[in-house]
Amino acid sequence: MDYSIRPLTAADTAALADFYRSLRPETVYVFGPFQPVDEAVLVTFLAGSHQVSWGLVNAADEIEGHVFLRALNEPPPEFGIGLRERVHGQGWGRRMMAAAVDWADEHDLPTVRLSVFKINSRARALYESFGFVTLRDHTCHEPDDSLYCERQRPPR
Ligand SMILES: CC(C)(COP(=O)(O)OP(=O)(O)OC[C@H]1O[C@@H](n2cnc3c(N)ncnc32)[C@H](O)[C@@H]1OP(=O)(O)O)[C@@H](O)C(=O)NCCC(=O)NCCS
Repeated sequence: MDYSIRPLTAADTAALADFYRSLRPETVYVFGPFQPVDEAVLVTFLAGSHQVSWGLVNAADEIEGHVFLRALNEPPPEFGIGLRERVHGQGWGRRMMAAAVDWADEHDLPTVRLSVFKINSRARALYESFGFVTLRDHTCHEPDDSLYCERQRPPR
């Protein structure tokens, strides 16, 4: 299967909704930014100027993964990433993350934030490799089940 990473626009709303509806419960548990899925929410998000999004798309232009920076108007912006289970572990998360982090650096964003579940060792290893550092515990579903992390733009 051929995949590519490309920016998403409001024209991708239906495909993005299909992507979020397709995720398994265990993925939604650790990556649930748009649950329950509402196309009105997604089109407003994608059309908005306070976020940037990229999709991992297959040859049929179906979305297999979504990476975004949101709250660009409320620094520090928040990073998020999630892939369909069938494309996990093939390097696509790293490539997608690079697209978003490179964009942040090119646009001189001093800080990017994220939260990650303590149990999500794959995501934590990925984030650490991009320079994110843990600042404190964070509560998502249960008290202190997650970590709050930030990445500072590297010096030029
Ligand atoms: C987390 C996620 C985005 C990573 O993407 P991926 O394509 O599966 O990961 P990659 O193949 O690009 O691997 C990236 C890194 O993850 C880590 N990793 C990969 N597989 C791992 C495993 N089985 N155990 C621990 N770490 C692992 C490694 O650090 C790897 O780095 P490498 O490139 O040096 O090998 C993806 O698995 C996913 O969408 N998971 C479900 C949703 C989710 O957890 N989102 C993040 C919420 S905070």
